[in-house]
Amino acid sequence: MYSKEIIDHFQNPKNMGAIEGVDAVGSVGNPVCGDIMKIYIKVGKNESGEDAIKDIGFETLGCVAAISTTSMITEMAKGKTLDEAMKIEFKDVESALGEIPPVKLHCADLSVRALREAIGQYKNSNRIS
Ligand code: FES
Repeated sequence: MYSKEIIDHFQNPKNMGAIEGVDAVGSVGNPVCGDIMKIYIKVGKNESGEDAIKDIGFETLGCVAAISTTSMITEMAKGKTLDEAMKIEFKDVESALGEIPPVKLHCADLSVRALREAIGQYKNSNRIS
């Protein structure tokens, strides 16, 4: 039912856990299934002087797909500029992980919302449009 990549990220999640000295936290939940995700980001300038995600961590209380999609999206976002990371869509997460069962697509969407929430919070608190 799950792809090898989904199982792998579930069994060996990347970037799991809160990180010290974060710049922003995106926290989202799904009231229907009860799953909760938090994505922590640290932001710094890249070589081009743009704001980029220098470090990222996550905490997810949820299903196999919730944990594996959060793990994958943190891998995809790490090192990207804030604007690039903001453009990651759940279809990109699915492409990276392999097919996600239709009833679990909302898990990937939740991970996207958690990342965007963290980036949005950083931009708001630093008055970046
Ligand atoms: Fe709801 Fe996975 S079942 S996030």
